[in-house]
Amino acid sequence: MTRHVIVTGGAGFIGSHLALALLTKGHRVTILDNLHTGKEKNIPKGADFINIDLGADNVPLRGLNCDAVFHLAGQSSGEASFDDPEYDFRSHVLSTFNMLRWCKETGVSRFIYSSSMSVYGDPDTLPINEGHALRPKTFYGAGKAAAEAYINLFSRLGLNTTVFRLFSVYGPGQDLDNKMQGMLSIYLSYMLEGNPVIVKGSAGRYRDFINVGDIVAAWLLAYESPVSFGKTYNLATGVKTTVQDLLNELKSAFNAKDYPIEFGQNTAGDQFGTVGDISLIKKDLNWQPAIDLKAGIAAMAKWARDL
Ligand SMILES: NC(=O)c1ccc[n+]([C@@H]2O[C@H](COP(=O)([O-])OP(=O)(O)OC[C@H]3O[C@@H](n4cnc5c(N)ncnc54)[C@H](O)[C@@H]3O)[C@@H](O)[C@H]2O)c1
Repeated sequence: MTRHVIVTGGAGFIGSHLALALLTKGHRVTILDNLHTGKEKNIPKGADFINIDLGADNVPLRGLNCDAVFHLAGQSSGEASFDDPEYDFRSHVLSTFNMLRWCKETGVSRFIYSSSMSVYGDPDTLPINEGHALRPKTFYGAGKAAAEAYINLFSRLGLNTTVFRLFSVYGPGQDLDNKMQGMLSIYLSYMLEGNPVIVKGSAGRYRDFINVGDIVAAWLLAYESPVSFGKTYNLATGVKTTVQDLLNELKSAFNAKDYPIEFGQNTAGDQFGTVGDISLIKKDLNWQPAIDLKAGIAAMAKWARDL
């Protein structure tokens, strides 16, 4: 059935992939985005676009209606959240509150949100499951945790919500000019420029890298699955990749065994290591990641070289 859906943040990396997939499924898509980091060129053909700051005090959404909101808009860098904590707060907490209240007022019943593994901070146990304590180390992570609390409240008030805690997402379309978001895309961009890769922190840190294609597949499944209402899921692979492993993969994709690497200071609030437990989403949605890191990096490097 064709539905009208809103994708906030649809001019950004993940939101534009999701918007395209929803259009391909035959839905009507309206993108709400203020182009803070998003770009008009990312907006897929066929989507409607409204340039709007969702974290403002008054968000003029009167006259708009839809069947579901996919809420991805938000300042997307932990590092940048220290430069402008107020914008970060508005873009996560206030934008989420504004969208939730608008859903309730206009009778929109479905709301899916892109939270982050940053809500956990440094883990007590690995892999981290959804019941782990929330101890964010950045303004960004605190904003995501606060947004989740409001979503859970609106869930109890009757909205059909799903929260995804995304781990380190990468893939074609990621902004290679943005050196403050996306470990993999940042290192890749140095290599494309022919400059030494600057690593902020040690090579022993580790992440759980997930391809944007796997993210979109999970969101589409959840949209159609009542079992996901009121739930929070890690969206990860469960695979631990150290910074050194990642550098080795990138060097091998570029056929550059001795590529120069320079190490600097960690960014503020950097998590040493995270790996997600994905048993809950596997069980509920029968979802599992399909794209391994080597293949994902090869496809992304090809995309980037062809730009
Ligand atoms: N990329 C990752 O690894 C990752 C990991 C965890 C969570 N997330 C979350 O997923 C979402 C999408 O991330 P992304 O990687 O595509 O980042 P992105 O920066 O490419 O996309 C974010 C989009 O939100 C828009 N935006 C920001 N503030 C806004 C506001 N006040 N009003 C309207 N639009 C606004 C930006 O212009 C941009 O288009 C974000 O909420 C991010 O925090 C991303």
